[in-house]
Amino acid sequence: MTQIFAHRGYAVSFAENTMGAFVDAEKAGADGIELDVQMTKDGELVVIHDEKVDRTTNGNGFVKDFLYKEIRKLNANKKGVKKEPIPALAEVLERMKTNKLLCNIELKNGLIPYEGMEEKVIELVQRFGLSDRIIISSFNHYSIVYSYRLAPEIETAPLFIEGIYMPWIYSQSIRAKGIHPKHSAMSDKIIINTMANGIAVRPYTVNKDADMHRFFNINCTAIITDETVKALQLRKPY
Ligand code: G3P
Ligand code: CA
Repeated sequence: MTQIFAHRGYAVSFAENTMGAFVDAEKAGADGIELDVQMTKDGELVVIHDEKVDRTTNGNGFVKDFLYKEIRKLNANKKGVKKEPIPALAEVLERMKTNKLLCNIELKNGLIPYEGMEEKVIELVQRFGLSDRIIISSFNHYSIVYSYRLAPEIETAPLFIEGIYMPWIYSQSIRAKGIHPKHSAMSDKIIINTMANGIAVRPYTVNKDADMHRFFNINCTAIITDETVKALQLRKPY
């Protein structure tokens, strides 16, 4: 059965990439969550999508220019009633000890080459004993290779915006056990062939009914969606 990963948590009902959104995803019955990691000036891993805090919080500036204690004062739920801090990655992993969720950690190190990010993420995952429930993804494929070298037991998955020729060969060459393509980037045939070659396929961001049916029909490994509740409902007959 196709697994359902809540993109940035169940962010339709709550602010994206907040503990509230991750708890809502858990309560809704998602199989997993997807989240984005950036790094503060003092090297703390924080869960936020953009390099800057402007869009999702009441602050402004680059994450890399904040100390952790400073960034924690910002409100990541500026449109909601309840104030929510930007979570530390450690908080989300701590919560995972109380649930059965899988977690896709996307390293946001494509634009800013955060020095030591891979080591820090892997150290945390290992410290919490979650190696078998984590998938590390990134658009930075060097980082995927490097993460594998650091911790071959943790699954890695390169992200793609466009299709590539025989993705299973590419994945195997960088030791990735999965690929995360944009939902429109690869045909059913390519996805089925990739899975037949032992590579997990988790397209993003699958929000339309027709796209969900498409991936459920071919028993795709997982989808990454903003519409967790709808996806769970549509998956029932499969
Ligand atoms: O991990 C899939 C997806 O989250 C990648 O795009 O921009 O939503 O992080 P983005
Ligand atoms: Ca992401």
